[in-house]
Amino acid sequence: MKKATALQGLDEQIEDIRLLSRRGFLGKIMAGTVATGLLPNFALAKQSKKPTVSKAIAPDNDSFWNHVADQFLLRPGVSYMNTGTGGPSPRSVYQAQIDSIQQTNADRFSYASHVYNTEFKDAVRAKLAGFVGCKSNEIAFTNNTTEGMVVGTFGPDLRPGDEIIYTNHDHSSGGQPINLRCARQGTIPVMVDLSSPKFHPPKDPSVIIAAYERAITSRTKMISLCHVNYTDGCVLPIKEICDLARSKGILTLVDGAHPPGMLDLDISSLGCDMYAGACHKWMLAGQLTGFFYVRESMLDRIWPTVYSGPVNGINLYGKPQSEPYLGRSQTAQKYEMHGSTNYSLGITINAALDFHNQIGPDAIESRDRYLVERVRSGLQNVPGITIFSSEDPRLCAGLVSFRIKGVKPKLLSETLWQRHRIYIRNVTHDDIDWDANRASMHIMVTTRQADNLVAAVEEVAKEHNA
Ligand SMILES: Cc1ncc(COP(=O)(O)O)c(C=O)c1O
Repeated sequence: MKKATALQGLDEQIEDIRLLSRRGFLGKIMAGTVATGLLPNFALAKQSKKPTVSKAIAPDNDSFWNHVADQFLLRPGVSYMNTGTGGPSPRSVYQAQIDSIQQTNADRFSYASHVYNTEFKDAVRAKLAGFVGCKSNEIAFTNNTTEGMVVGTFGPDLRPGDEIIYTNHDHSSGGQPINLRCARQGTIPVMVDLSSPKFHPPKDPSVIIAAYERAITSRTKMISLCHVNYTDGCVLPIKEICDLARSKGILTLVDGAHPPGMLDLDISSLGCDMYAGACHKWMLAGQLTGFFYVRESMLDRIWPTVYSGPVNGINLYGKPQSEPYLGRSQTAQKYEMHGSTNYSLGITINAALDFHNQIGPDAIESRDRYLVERVRSGLQNVPGITIFSSEDPRLCAGLVSFRIKGVKPKLLSETLWQRHRIYIRNVTHDDIDWDANRASMHIMVTTRQADNLVAAVEEVAKEHNA
């Protein structure tokens, strides 16, 4: 009798978690405070298409966006402009994670059977696939972008002497797996030099395409490239470069640390073979979440690395692997067959997708672009400031990169924090003569905070360039 009561209690709590996910933050927290009639009501982990009504939310509708910013747990007074490094989760995502940890510790059996079960994971996978624009069988959950970049770099069969292209504005998470593979297997790293000022910002996308084109030889077998550079925030012409690569039989691996949650992403239309994304940056899921995409027709050419599934359809005991595991191991799920997982992280991916979908990925992208443009145009007339971000929307999105003449970017980051509690970062690499500040403009940033950033940078610029 007692046992039944305890389980009933748990069932209710499980239902609460389901309801929380179903209602999402707007339904639960903001009911009546904004025009929720504009917003779609999504079922838990079922929806896999993007909403289409969100264009109604203007990027400068401050009463709406201030409510969105209010969903974050940031300490009062802090202006958080470093989503590019790590996205703080909004309250609904944070709460879903806390609840999941609590439920897992209270009754792991019930939680794994009724909440974090295969049906749930499949539904989250379908929702994530819909969000980033691919099929469910093409996407695996990973711990972060780096993991996807490593699997993508080591996954294809290559021979000694085959060349792999990357650039010196790639992140070490993209470039160093290439150097590791080359050191071990005799493939050749070919680094495109993007250090010339003509790339920051480029006059138009053709400048970047030409740089990749020049690096291609008859031995090029793979191009690893960033969708959005972490140095200057440049959005690369991915489709054009991938089309070029494909016309020459070259594989493409895209480092998508930044676009998920920043851009209204449609991976299939990019034409890449592989795409490694983060969920813990602009998507705002829990820390240590990401995904790895492999185009369906390429799945049998990309080997998994950290792996415990069937090999050539055979299980550990030399017998044919049974279904449904066999079928799963023939999809992108093979890239996530690597041992125990943290339930609460999958829960945050689901909650973060709901959060984004209730606002609308297109509305979020427009808002991020609006904030970046506000900062960019605010800074461009300040004496002593160089802006590295393009005003061309094809080449720029949620990151704005700049530098004050005579002020070390590290000093500016520290000054903004000490004086105003504005958190931006500096990206400094002496080896490629790159030293700049970078601000991430995402939905926890209010318009007033964006304007404060401009004023605070101007203040420092005046002090040093009087
Ligand atoms: C372009 C780029 N790639 C990869 C990474 C590594 O991302 P993760 O921490 O998700 O592995 C980062 C991190 O900031 C990045 O900016």
